[in-house]
Amino acid sequence: MKECEIYISAGQIAQKVEEIGKQLSRDFKDRNPLIISVLKGGFVFMADLVRSIDILCEMDFMAVSSYGNNANSCGKIEIIKDLDTNIASRNVIVVEDIIDSGNTLAHLLELLHERGAKSVTLVALLDKPARRQTEVNIDYLGFSVPDEFLVGYGLDYAEKYRNLKDICILNPKIYNK
Ligand code: IMP
Ligand code: MG
Repeated sequence: MKECEIYISAGQIAQKVEEIGKQLSRDFKDRNPLIISVLKGGFVFMADLVRSIDILCEMDFMAVSSYGNNANSCGKIEIIKDLDTNIASRNVIVVEDIIDSGNTLAHLLELLHERGAKSVTLVALLDKPARRQTEVNIDYLGFSVPDEFLVGYGLDYAEKYRNLKDICILNPKIYNK
């Protein structure tokens, strides 16, 4: 059985990452942006993206977990690893792997605004619009994708497959076992 099938190849990803990097370099010149990766899924995209950016910038990392629709949590996020940086008056760029329901990101962006960021910009490699529950504005997008479970290039299924070079559709037989 084939575990997964290539949906976006490493070459296509590299080309798109280069494009977004160029745009960010142009749009954030002389603004010393703080680029934040949302762990863990965003780490591969972040690593490639920052190397296609050729202006001065800083980086930080954050890990959050969504309580989802748990009635007790009001859909808020739990911060598992917070930023080391004070973001007041900073131009913040959030780098995400995929926007699915949008719940996690909507809360995260709100939090960053509350902390006094001068601007908050969202870069997402993938967007799955069919699954959206909370509207989020994606400022720079790589690819819009169908409602399939994707793995690779940082994206996991049960913590596996993050190391695949391509973005692949996971065979449903794997998660319906
Ligand atoms: P949401 O937008 O709050 O639903 O959360 C998005 C998060 O769910 C992403 O950052 C991923 O970690 C995870 N996710 C959503 N769709 C997929 C997928 O197709 N493959 C792997 N992870 C996914
Ligand atoms: Mg993620």
